[in-house]
Amino acid sequence: MIATPDLSHIKREDYEKVYEPSEDTFLLLDALEDDEKLIQQLKPCVCLEIGSGSGCVTTLLAKIVGNKNAGKLVADKEAIFANIQQVFLTTDLNEFACETTRQTGLHNGITQIEPVRTSLVDGIMPRLKNCIDILCFNPPYVVTTHEEVGSCGIEASWAGGIDGREVIDQLLPLVKDILSPNGIFYLLLINENKPDQVVQLMKEVYRMDAKIIMERRAGREKQFIVKITH
Ligand SMILES: C[S@@+](CC[C@H](N)C(=O)[O-])C[C@H]1O[C@@H](n2cnc3c(N)ncnc32)[C@H](O)[C@@H]1O
Repeated sequence: MIATPDLSHIKREDYEKVYEPSEDTFLLLDALEDDEKLIQQLKPCVCLEIGSGSGCVTTLLAKIVGNKNAGKLVADKEAIFANIQQVFLTTDLNEFACETTRQTGLHNGITQIEPVRTSLVDGIMPRLKNCIDILCFNPPYVVTTHEEVGSCGIEASWAGGIDGREVIDQLLPLVKDILSPNGIFYLLLINENKPDQVVQLMKEVYRMDAKIIMERRAGREKQFIVKITH
C-alpha cells in the first residue's frame, strides 16, 4: 500500500484558492492504487493529470510509477526528455493550483512534476500527440449554469455547466490523440454527468474502449471512475 501524499505544507487558508482533496480525489487515488501492478507493467514515461489542484493525485501516481522504468525510454520520447526517466505533466487553469502541485511533489520527494498553466491540454498538444501513458482527470463536474464555467479561480474546481459535462465534453474528442497506444485514462464522473452515456460515446463515436471500474457513494453524490483505453 502506498501512503497518501503528505499535504501538511498546504495551509488551511490555501484551500480558499485551491481544491482541497475530497472523496472524489480519494476515489481516483484508490483506482490508481488498485491498478498499481498494471501501471508499473506499462512502464509509463509520460503521465498527465489535467486539473491537478493540490497535486495529490500526480504525486501518488509518481510514487506508484517509482523508478522501475529507468533506461526504457523509446527513441522519440528520449529526444524530448533527455536524461529524465519519467515526467509527470500537470495542467490547471488556476495558477495557484500549478504552484501548489509543484510544492506537493517536492514536499513528497518527487522532482519530475512539470505543471503547465493551460486549459485541458492546450499548452502541450499536438507536440505530445499519442505520447501520454497515464492520463487522469478529476474534472469540475458539478451541474451549474453555463456562465459559471471557465474561471481561473477556485470556482473552476467545481463549475461543470450543463449536466456538469461542459469541461468533460471538451476533452473527450481529444483522448484518442492524447493517449499512447497502451495508454490508460482514468476519469472521475458523478451520476449527473451520465457516466453510462460517456462510456457509450467513447465506444461508439470515438471507437475507444471504456468501462466503469469503480463506483462509490459520497453523501448525496454517486461517484464513478471510468477507464478508457484504445
Ligand atoms: C475537482 S478539482 C480536482 C483537483 C485535484 N485533481 C483533486 O483530485 O483533488 C478540478 C480541478 O480542475 C481544474 N480545472 C477546471 N477546468 C479546467 C480546465 N479547462 N483545464 C485545466 N484545469 C481545469 C480546477 O482548477 C481544479 O484544480
